Amino acid sequence: MKPHPSGRPRGIRGAAALGLAAAGALLVGLAATPSGAADAAGPVLRDLAQAQGKYYGTAVTASKLNGTYADIAGSQFNSITPGNEMKWESVEPSRGTYNWSGADAVVNFAQAHDMEVRGHTLVWHSQLPGWLTGGSWTADQLRTLMTDHITTEVGRYQGKITHWDVVNEPFNEDGTFRQSLWYTKLGPSYIADALRAARAADPDAKLYLNDYNTDGTGAKSDGMYNLVKSLKAQGVPIDGVGFQGHLILGQVPSTMKANLQRFADLGVDVAVTELDIRMTLPATDAELAQQKADYRAVTDACVAVSRCRGVTVWGFTDSDSWIPDVFDGQGAATPYDEGYRPKPAYYGIAESLGWTGDGGDPGDPDPDPTTGCTVGYTVTSQWNTGFTANVTVKNTGSSPVNGWQVAWAYPSGQRVTSGWNATVTQSGAQVTAANAPYNATIGAGGSVSFGFNGTWSGATPRPPRSPSTARPAPRAERPAVRLGGPDGTPPRRPGDRAWKSA
Ligand code: G3I
Repeated sequence: MKPHPSGRPRGIRGAAALGLAAAGALLVGLAATPSGAADAAGPVLRDLAQAQGKYYGTAVTASKLNGTYADIAGSQFNSITPGNEMKWESVEPSRGTYNWSGADAVVNFAQAHDMEVRGHTLVWHSQLPGWLTGGSWTADQLRTLMTDHITTEVGRYQGKITHWDVVNEPFNEDGTFRQSLWYTKLGPSYIADALRAARAADPDAKLYLNDYNTDGTGAKSDGMYNLVKSLKAQGVPIDGVGFQGHLILGQVPSTMKANLQRFADLGVDVAVTELDIRMTLPATDAELAQQKADYRAVTDACVAVSRCRGVTVWGFTDSDSWIPDVFDGQGAATPYDEGYRPKPAYYGIAESLGWTGDGGDPGDPDPDPTTGCTVGYTVTSQWNTGFTANVTVKNTGSSPVNGWQVAWAYPSGQRVTSGWNATVTQSGAQVTAANAPYNATIGAGGSVSFGFNGTWSGATPRPPRSPSTARPAPRAERPAVRLGGPDGTPPRRPGDRAWKSA
């Protein structure tokens, strides 16, 4: 990781983070970088992970697998977990009536993108269909329903799923067995029976137990540890343990690596299966910097344990996360923001996996191969009704820029009150900053900064990308740093590719 000269918390990266939206003819598009797809300069998590002998995975929502969402999932991750589509209520909503559409979509996507699949999940107390939870079954009937379900689902995807979360969340917080439908009717033997049924249906799939709040050592982790030890001793087919990793900002357990290692020492693989790190909204730069450190620490723990197969994030974008629905006022838990812009956390992961480039911190350039221009946006201070922001425009091209504008939107209602080092104007949600006479020229590799004060109420999120730019858009719709005069005069930079294509 590159040290930052100021030692300050670092903000989100560049133009992609700003979500620039420009009015009028756009001369320089910046959409390539925020797509998160591989670009020449940015890290690719799946490649970095593979070089470490790991995977980096994401949970997805099958219905969202198109456009930018699909581009990022398929290019940055080499393992995929269906967030809901393989759960019992999804695949067998009525007894004997199966709906495999969502699960098939995820598996097909994985195959098309050379990804592993984590099957999630076969035996859980939650998201069970009403016909199952409402029925009055004898123990034998319930056991047969469970093993038939496993046989059917695992059998359908035989050879296509590398890891199955066979039993999910079997423990209470104190390490005793959860009083689930399964445990209360069948006793603890349901776990061994489930594993055996899964092994019979797909001998090559790695079979996991999976739980939350077992990430560090403690009573619940001890419960899992003792169970795995006993299953191994009985010869029950158990290949791995999943640690969900639903964490709170700044609270990565210090014992995580040691905990993963002690399970590995039992002779099973381990994986972080549902990583997210939540915080109270709105997220500040300092919190995003902490989150970067947290994502890095979790990934470090996996990298340090040779039997750790990989890490899966529970949704890669804040627009596809369960956190805001369940934890009031909390969110921003994933490595990409709601506009699919990589957050500092993304760079924390990349750095843990060995990446040494710039990104995720204020002052880091945001390489953009299309335009040669990058923009960084940092809220430098914030109080109950106001804030101060700083924007840096960097010319990453090889010739000077003469005249520039930066445009963005504040749909949450922030108002710019005064600016410096640029003429900053606002009309409705739309803000435009044009160069001052004395900083119109940005030399090759150089940068200029401007700042402004603003007001806010309710929330002051970062400027989002406009809807038209959340996906690859025709050139003229792309967000922009506009090179050239504020009146639209052409940039005085001969051969500017973007200008020509506008
Ligand atoms: O599909 C319906 C939709 O038709 C309806 O309009 C909407 C209204 O609320 O609900 C939709 O279903 C939601 C479903 O996610 C799909 O989005 C459910 O209400 C919601 O409860 C369900 O939440 C899922 C949660 O498991 C259920 O416990 C989350 O998406 C999913 O991310 C979450 O994942 C779990 C793991 O499987 C196990 N570990 C914990 C993790 C987080 O809870």
